[in-house]
Amino acid sequence: MVAAAICPAGAQSPPKAATNDLNPGSNADMVRACDAAAESAPCMKLVTAIIKPFKLDEVRDALLGIGVNGMTVTEVKGYGRQKGHTEIYRGAEYAVNFLPKIRIEIAVSEPDADRVVEAIGAAAKTGQIGDGKIFVTPIERALRIRTGETDSDAL
Ligand SMILES: Nc1ncnc2c1ncn2[C@@H]1O[C@H](COP(=O)(O)OP(=O)(O)OP(=O)(O)O)[C@@H](O)[C@H]1O
Ligand SMILES: [Mg+2]
Repeated sequence: MVAAAICPAGAQSPPKAATNDLNPGSNADMVRACDAAAESAPCMKLVTAIIKPFKLDEVRDALLGIGVNGMTVTEVKGYGRQKGHTEIYRGAEYAVNFLPKIRIEIAVSEPDADRVVEAIGAAAKTGQIGDGKIFVTPIERALRIRTGETDSDAL
């Protein structure tokens, strides 16, 4: 039987490192603490961000700056509270407009998730409606296909 994939409470929020660097070694103690607390349950998170397309380069540079090793980027369409309208016509919104957005997905060790969220949030923000959202979800398993490494080693 595979252990539950949800990190136990004690593994959720290990102390943050002073550094902003996510590269291996800088947060190794936190990763080990997380893994130890979780025992066999991996502590990985998927950070999914929906952003304005013209902010992609800025967000990518911010993520490179904190040592994120990989990401997936997809062109998507969506709407939020304004239903894709930048103005409300006579006080009513009629049809929904899907607006182009970019979805960024980044798998990280749990202790890195907050820094990734903060970096994206800062880089993607204009202060105008439609800036987007960031979601954090658990990852149960990861595998680097080439080497067979698993979980945090596969990120
Ligand atoms: N609840 C949601 N679930 C999934 N995707 C969402 C959700 N809300 C927004 N999105 C995605 O994020 C994009 C940007 O949303 P947006 O920033 O306009 O949200 P909002 O709640 O309307 O906030 P704001 O008032 O700042 O515009 C949408 O086009 C959609 O792709
Ligand atoms: Mg909106």
